[in-house]
Amino acid sequence: MASLRAFAALAGVVALTVAAPVPEPELAERQDTSAPFLHSAAVAHGKAWFGSELDTFSGEQYDQAFMTVWNDSRIFGSTTPGNTMKWEFVEPQQNTFNFSQGMQTVALSKATGKDAHLRCHNLVWHEELPSWVVYQPYDSWTNITLAAAMINHITKTVRGFGSNCYSWDVVNEAIDDNAQWRNTIFYQYMGKYYIPIAFAAAQAAVKSIGADIKLVYNDYNIEFPGAKQQKAVELVQLIKQYGIKIDGVGFESHFVFGETPGASAQMQAMQSFTSLGLNMYQTELDVRFPSLPPTPATLAQQASDYYNTIQACMKTPACQGMTVWDFDDAYSWVPSTFAGQGDACLYWANLTRKPAYEAVYQAITDVNCTVC
Ligand code: XIL
Repeated sequence: MASLRAFAALAGVVALTVAAPVPEPELAERQDTSAPFLHSAAVAHGKAWFGSELDTFSGEQYDQAFMTVWNDSRIFGSTTPGNTMKWEFVEPQQNTFNFSQGMQTVALSKATGKDAHLRCHNLVWHEELPSWVVYQPYDSWTNITLAAAMINHITKTVRGFGSNCYSWDVVNEAIDDNAQWRNTIFYQYMGKYYIPIAFAAAQAAVKSIGADIKLVYNDYNIEFPGAKQQKAVELVQLIKQYGIKIDGVGFESHFVFGETPGASAQMQAMQSFTSLGLNMYQTELDVRFPSLPPTPATLAQQASDYYNTIQACMKTPACQGMTVWDFDDAYSWVPSTFAGQGDACLYWANLTRKPAYEAVYQAITDVNCTVC
């Protein structure tokens, strides 16, 4: 089912390219847009959004059944582009900028009322970098030239998307799985100081266009107390000690079923950052199964993992909104990154809902979980 739908979407892309008649896409007959509605409920309960990623690079926008759900502003009130604002898309050659792919998500957001909370993602990350950044001849960067290239990327990208962005993930995943500074190319040349430099550049770029864009640090496995979460606190303090602005921290929340931290652990982790005056966001939530297929019992556990996670945001006043990293298994990033794993989303690949969808609604509306 997943591959058929992905194929139908791709066929749509090809058909548009060659201007041939667009074949009837394979519609999921039962795409579910009935009540309850997650975004409407989140707003009614004091949050700014419940949202879902959109990846136009995968051709999602050509999949009519998928878009029927994504477009529904009662279900999703915010989005994040999955790929198209990343460095390799925006600045494929040094100082040659291309905002057109990212602007597709801007346009689709505006058309469906998601533009007030478009989470722009991301400015500095160790993945999806163009080759001119990573594969320079040995040692041809210096700390000065790489800093200048990074600042130029940040400045022109922030200005290019301008006030279409509600927030920017300025630095993404700067801490490794051993809770050390990740050994990225930026770290190799600038040490940890590339992080405050990046935030300072973003702050200056936002100021130069007179916009109000939230500046965010985004990472995974900082959703529960521990060494990596402590390192993220250190990162925030590093930025703040120079008087540089950081508005919030994104908890990616890529979880594994049954290993998801409980609501109180997640709330405690949020507290470490809110006590520094920051806002919080759940930015890329999904709960994957390490082996497939799931059973009714493991689906109930997945529902419980989603419930606990959403509850942590709902019960943390400074947590602004919740975003899932795609809502539909057909386009989830999980199977291509974690071989043999998957079924991490709220909707099955045929666009019907899992128990987790109801669990999210129940967490938002603060009632006991009946599907966990
Ligand atoms: C993923 C995308 O979903 C994939 O399509 C892409 O191939 C790799 O990146 N953390 C992040 C996101 O911050 O940008 C990643 O997105 C998932 C992990």
